[in-house]
Amino acid sequence: MAFDLAKELADRAGESFSLHEKYLNRQLVRVLKTIGFDRHYTRAEGPYLFDKSGARYLDLLAGFGVFALGRNHPTVKKAMHDLLDADLPNLVQMDVSLLAGLLAERLLAHIPGQDRVFFCNSGTEAVEAAIKLARAATHRSKLVYCDHAFHGLTMGALTLNGDRSFRDGFGPLLADAVGVPWNDLPALEAALAGKDVAAFFVEPIQGKGVNLPAPGYLREAARLCRKYGALFVADEVQTGLGRTGKFLAVEHEEGVEPDLVLLAKALSGGFVPVGAVVGKQWVFERTFDRMDRALVHGSTFGKNNLAMAAGLATLAVLEDEDLVANAARRGASLLRRLGALTEKYELLKEVRGRGLMVALEFGAPQSLGLRAAWTLLEKATKGLFCQMVIIPLFSRHRILSQVAGHEMYVIKLLPALSLSQEDEDWIVSAFDDVIADCHKVPGAVWELATTLAGHAMKSKAGA
Ligand SMILES: Cc1ncc(COP(=O)(O)O)c(C=O)c1O
Repeated sequence: MAFDLAKELADRAGESFSLHEKYLNRQLVRVLKTIGFDRHYTRAEGPYLFDKSGARYLDLLAGFGVFALGRNHPTVKKAMHDLLDADLPNLVQMDVSLLAGLLAERLLAHIPGQDRVFFCNSGTEAVEAAIKLARAATHRSKLVYCDHAFHGLTMGALTLNGDRSFRDGFGPLLADAVGVPWNDLPALEAALAGKDVAAFFVEPIQGKGVNLPAPGYLREAARLCRKYGALFVADEVQTGLGRTGKFLAVEHEEGVEPDLVLLAKALSGGFVPVGAVVGKQWVFERTFDRMDRALVHGSTFGKNNLAMAAGLATLAVLEDEDLVANAARRGASLLRRLGALTEKYELLKEVRGRGLMVALEFGAPQSLGLRAAWTLLEKATKGLFCQMVIIPLFSRHRILSQVAGHEMYVIKLLPALSLSQEDEDWIVSAFDDVIADCHKVPGAVWELATTLAGHAMKSKAGA
């Protein structure tokens, strides 16, 4: 029987939730149904998703940041088609591929001061590789990370996770790792001072919560690492490739030169899993130091032709469409306009971010009626309030967004870097409308909150 993908998709359309419930992650299906996100998307283009009725949604998650170019970008699509049609020898293994060499060359042209690239298949694999490279380069084992950090969910990366809700129940993790408070240079210096640290892992802007570095923090942290012989590893898996309005987020501060830079997500335009560690030659050469160690670290699918071709096409689109500059301009405008809503609404405390990595932070109101409703909700489940914003944002305004972390009052926007003026207006008017509704007690939003709190209590009780 010949395989026919189009027929498969047509015959089984509408079964995705039942299949996932039966064979994959039942709890995720429950979550999506509870918050009304169980749509059947049939098409995607740029920053938009379309459901089977043709309704258009603005996607502010962008697949957790992978669709920086927007979805199904024609240039990357063509590169994928061309690659498949070329019948190239892929993954020969005892050979080296031209495409990987070209992508390394193009990437390094964007990242001054770095000389080598290691390709893998995801962000977390880039973190695992960096842990090994750092340990081999320094002959030290200790790793330092920041509170609230997120570096991925495999065991090494999980060790560097600054949020207990991800770590609990999976130990023991790597033995030799310490967390330090974010933006706290004396604490970092104390952790490094024993001269036994292999590397300090840091996101230039923390993804969970969109926490910005204090001015000078990254530069000083890099200096301290150098002083005490630890590597400074910039995890740019989320912030890299233009997301924050610069190619790398470390560029927002002058004089920050990492020893290793980690990339993934947007690098393949969202088409193929990919990850990369970019770094100094001397660091790489301490791991790959003899012929019999040429393959001492690697991964079977790393450097695969599809990922490399997608990466080359993605870098070309970033340049051709000037997307990094668009992220800077559009992001600044969005921050200014959403920021203005803090004057209007007491529940909205702060709007912060850089480029198109934007956070809206909510918090306890002052006025009596609202305060009572807020307190009741918080007693039921901490951090539930943001769901009351993202649900109507989706159901009434067709905007897909997500809370920025566990038990947080932060909604994060991570849209395509190609966002237009029309998209920006759509976002601002939708938030204005939904947040206005949150200030009405009693009202539909707080009724929804009561229902959600009920679901949360049942779920905690293990129902
Ligand atoms: C900063 C950072 N590092 C690492 C990762 C892990 O990447 P992946 O999910 O591709 O393993 C993420 C994912 O969100 C991330 O944001």
